Amino acid sequence: DDPISGTKRREVIRVSTDGDCVPLKWNWAATWFTAPPKFKDFFKRIYEFEVRNDDVFIVTFPKCGTTWMQEAAWLLLNNLDYEEASRAHLLKRSVYMDISMLYDPRYEDSVKLAEQLKSPRCIKSHLPPHLLPRQIWQKKVKLIYCARNPKDVLISFSHFIRGKGAYQGNEEDFLNDFLNANLTYTPFWPHVFTMWQMRTEPNVFFVTFEEMKRNLRGVLERLNVFLEKPALTEEQLEKLLKHLSFENMKANHQTNPTEIIKGSGQRTVATDFEFMRRGIVGSYKDELSERNQRRINDWSEQFLSQFNVSETDIF
Ligand code: A3P
Repeated sequence: DDPISGTKRREVIRVSTDGDCVPLKWNWAATWFTAPPKFKDFFKRIYEFEVRNDDVFIVTFPKCGTTWMQEAAWLLLNNLDYEEASRAHLLKRSVYMDISMLYDPRYEDSVKLAEQLKSPRCIKSHLPPHLLPRQIWQKKVKLIYCARNPKDVLISFSHFIRGKGAYQGNEEDFLNDFLNANLTYTPFWPHVFTMWQMRTEPNVFFVTFEEMKRNLRGVLERLNVFLEKPALTEEQLEKLLKHLSFENMKANHQTNPTEIIKGSGQRTVATDFEFMRRGIVGSYKDELSERNQRRINDWSEQFLSQFNVSETDIF
């Protein structure tokens, strides 16, 4: 009875729009997006969502560093209010607007929660550009997009979904469903690639997990300018870098959702389940067989070569 399942195909639907609001020529109508059936109830409400001019959207394919970016963006947007950040969980401060399409009664209606959030809102979504609130593109509000290389995404996604008991198959099944776009939020490449193509749009901040690992300081400085906030002092920057470190965010109960997921009681979550798992670039190197690494590389190349782009141009 879980919607995020490729082994039970009847439980996912495939959606498309003409995406005429998105400032990029792309055949959206030919790009299926895989979603749970409940998406039917949410699609229109999300698409027609009333966007405020000072909203900031944080958009990613799952497992690309969303939580890390949310904490960074929320703090910058809220003038480094560590007190409030320690009082309320990130899930409450920065609402995940499409989560209600995945689960039934556990969460309140996430679209309503996003509507009720006080400005400036920092709203998370995993939806691809043509299914996001279209006013984002019409009003040109700020959108932060964080991408990550597909082999690490696959590993992280597989641990996450299988670890929380939301997928019945094994790792190999999961890989097949990822490549064949049978999982909710797939297909991966159109999601990431179209946002990469839009990276120079003035309202878009495109960044990769890899860049955040390489140079978080530089990313924060660039993000701060994008958010039109006053320049950070060296002291503020040092404190923020420390706050956003993997170890710190893992130990911080207001940023690490592991206990919330374990305590949800909806499924059998693995006892060793960890949301903050490794937080590195290159997990795939010791977690994915060479054969499967090659399969993903070939699959990526098949998509990207149509555009004369290679993975190293992006990550
Ligand atoms: P791993 O599973 O590879 O460890 P998302 O927030 O999009 O679901 O992404 C989760 C991934 O981001 C996990 O990757 C998690 O460990 C990693 N992550 C979260 N916070 C991080 C941080 N502060 N530094 C580095 N990686 C982080």
